[in-house]
This record gives sequence, C-alpha cells and structure tokens, in this order.
Amino acid sequence: MKIKNYLHMLENIEGEVEHTVDRIISGLKDDKVMVIKNQQQTEADALLSAVAEQLGLHDSLMLQAGFASAQKHREQVGEYFMSVNARGDYQYIPPHCEGTVSTNIQLAAFYAEQNTTDGGETILFHLDQDYLSNVPLYEVVNKVRIKGAELPQQMVAMLAMIHKVRIPDDLLRDNDEVLTSDHVSDFNIDIAQVPKVLKKHTSVILNRDVYSYWDNVASTDKNAAAQFERYLKENQLLRGKLNNESMDNAAKRRVYDGQYKLEDIIDGQITYKLQKGDLVLMNNLTWAHSTANWTPGSGERQIAAAFA
Ligand SMILES: [Fe+2]
Repeated sequence: MKIKNYLHMLENIEGEVEHTVDRIISGLKDDKVMVIKNQQQTEADALLSAVAEQLGLHDSLMLQAGFASAQKHREQVGEYFMSVNARGDYQYIPPHCEGTVSTNIQLAAFYAEQNTTDGGETILFHLDQDYLSNVPLYEVVNKVRIKGAELPQQMVAMLAMIHKVRIPDDLLRDNDEVLTSDHVSDFNIDIAQVPKVLKKHTSVILNRDVYSYWDNVASTDKNAAAQFERYLKENQLLRGKLNNESMDNAAKRRVYDGQYKLEDIIDGQITYKLQKGDLVLMNNLTWAHSTANWTPGSGERQIAAAFA
C-alpha cells in the first residue's frame, strides 16, 4: 500500500523562538502538523492555552479537560492534558479523528513525557478531501424504535443524554439498515445502531467544510482495523504476532464493514516517534491520528493528549 510521505507538512519549532504562538497558528492554517520541541509540561500547557485562545477554542479546551478528568479511564496531566487510554500488550490504536461531529473537537494535541519503547510510533494520516467528496463514509449513529405508548418528556431528555438520540429526528425508519439493536425494557424501546452518510463539518482552523474520520466512522468499522494492520505490516511497524482482535483496542465497537481501502481515503501520512518533551499540534478534522504497537517491557511510554 503506497501512501505519500507528507513529512514536508510537519514543522519543527526548536529553541527559544520569538512569536512561537503566531508560528504555530500560521502553520495550522496551512494544515501543517506542528512539533514544538523540548517543552516542560507547564510550557506545553501554556502554549496550548495560548493557541486555543487565538483560535477561539479555549472554552472547548477547558470543557474537554474537565470532561476527561471526570472519566475514570483517563488521568489528568498538567492543566489541560489527560493520559491516553490504557492499552493492553501489543495493542495499537487505528487511525481516527477524536470524537464525533457532535463533540466538535477541532484541535488535537499530544505531549510526550517519555517514549522509549521499541515502537509506539505516531502515524498521522491526512484525509483525501477529493476522494471523500465522491465516495461517502458512514458514521454509525443511534436511532430509537418506540414500541409502547408515547414517551414522557423526561424520558425523551434521558434518551438524548444517555443514548444521543433526539426525538423525532432519530426515530428508526423502515429503510434504515440496523447493525445492532438493544431492547431497553424500562422504556419499552429498541436502541439501534445504523450507518448514516457522513456530512462535511466546518474546520474552525481552516475556515472551510471538510470530511473527517470521526471516531464513530473509524472505530465502528471492521474494515478500518484490517486496513490499518495491513499498513503496519507493510511498513514494518507491527510488533508481535497476535490476532487482529486482541491488538485492536476498538475491536468490540466494530459493527460495520466499510469497503474502502486506507490508501483511498488518505492522501498522505507522517510517521513520527514522539520524543520526550515534544508537543504536537494538528487539526483534528483533517488529520487522523494512530499509534503503532510496541514490545511490552521494551521501554516507557507516557503520552498525554489534549483536545479543544
Ligand atoms: Fe484518539
């Protein structure tokens, strides 16, 4: 599988640089991946805060940090960062843009406290907007089938909160393709997962609408994991010889089978192993992030993530 190397889209900022924030903003507006070297955690926090502020994303940065600290599987690191999801031995993280259309995360940041394993490379994939304008991707969304009487208003609100379904917009229709269906006996309803054609979403950084590889597109698709594993193999980035299911951290969420090849939806990639003190910033809508696996015990890997 041949995917162009987009290393020219990665810009390193090293040493004391005047107007660092301006340089980061201008790089992001050119859709570059910005790496700021040798940062302390507090400096990374301060830089990220200033960049988010200039992009009008500071509220979102605080919201995401607060949300993360409320979650049990993530730990807060510094002011805005959180530990990345714990993963099992030999697990990789297939490419995805963080969140979904409704979480609207525009900016992704990673900070390396330590990264000395024999793998764990970050692979960033740039989405091919031309291809995606012609061939749709599908996001997997929840829809509801009401079997009994009309639901009281309180339950409608609860469904929106817990299952992300809005009534009447998300009522299941006859022509919906049901991928999974769960009966919720308390409400006498079915919650179904259905594929829905992905629409463009506005990138605040680029000030234009783009197609993204949201989590509910990428991590619900069996094909996506198989494609990524093939990519890792072909590029000598796969360690260990386990089966796909146990190496894929999102295996249980995959309910759908997309037909595309990874090289179709991507026009370029950057493979970069984060070094201690690196702060990496990118547009979450145009770049999907992923991580190669590593041999357990081969070193320490502590990477923190922040989103806005
Ligand atoms: Fe992620």
